Amino acid sequence: MSDPIRSAPPAPDDTILALENVSKFFGKVIALNGVTLRLKRGEVHCLLGDNGAGKSTLIKTLAGVHTPSSGEYLVDGKPVRFGSPKEALDLGIATVYQDLALVPLLSVARNFFMGREPQKKRFGFINVMDLDLAAETSRARLSEMGINVRDAHQPIGTMSGGEKQCLAIARAIHFGARVLILDEPTAALGVKQSFNVLKLIHTARAKGISVIFITHNVHHAYPIGDSFTLLNRGKSMGTFTKDTITKNEVLDMMAGGAEMQEMMNELEGAPA
Ligand SMILES: Nc1ncnc2c1ncn2[C@@H]1O[C@H](COP(=O)(O)OP(=O)(O)OP(=O)(O)O)[C@@H](O)[C@H]1O
Ligand SMILES: [Mg+2]
Repeated sequence: MSDPIRSAPPAPDDTILALENVSKFFGKVIALNGVTLRLKRGEVHCLLGDNGAGKSTLIKTLAGVHTPSSGEYLVDGKPVRFGSPKEALDLGIATVYQDLALVPLLSVARNFFMGREPQKKRFGFINVMDLDLAAETSRARLSEMGINVRDAHQPIGTMSGGEKQCLAIARAIHFGARVLILDEPTAALGVKQSFNVLKLIHTARAKGISVIFITHNVHHAYPIGDSFTLLNRGKSMGTFTKDTITKNEVLDMMAGGAEMQEMMNELEGAPA
């Protein structure tokens, strides 16, 4: 295992996004405490940590939902201070949240375009949505990414959790994301559906998109991750590239290693 990034020199040019020594306070709660995270172009960077570690706070900071209490946020090496998620999106930083922000009663196609539907003229002068073109385009784009939808006019509520997660990711890719931030996209999914989401993360990387993949699950993170940042109670335990850390070492750090073992031993010795 190599030294973590904490004492590293300034971020190199291949860094697309960086948080430098960022803290975030909510009143007396310290959600992030001096965290440095650097995302390289074209990498899948996994952010791992237990409940309450600060993962969602970190990605909301990247997504422009929160502003850091202190520290710096840089995009392409330039400091930024986003006033809203739209400003982050305009720079190609797309976030897929756990609750997905899809509209269940609207069709797959409408959810894919979400306000950006193609238009056509009715009676030669009234602009209306071209729903057939929207359905055909979304079906084709989803199919290119390995997601097969029979009829894109069907309500999105009829799709499975995994399919919805894939649709939200595919939408971000289609609309030109350079950075894709995924907050626990596999948390509520079974094996097959998780696999489909992981495959799509692979596809995103193959298209040159940089990905931040938040998860509790080392078995999901390790096979597709290029680097791993571990958060613990608001602090970074370091960033490790795949060639410097084994899966078991990541598992140990996640579980608190010796601390966890001690608790398990105590449990084993306790009277039933
Ligand atoms: N808007 C907020 N106001 C007050 N406290 C907050 C707010 N958002 C997060 N926190 C606190 O900050 C800490 C980190 O929370 P966060 O949601 O970032 O953790 P997490 O790693 O995403 O956890 P989980 O795995 O449960 O999703 C927690 O103690 C949480 O209660
Ligand atoms: Mg969270």
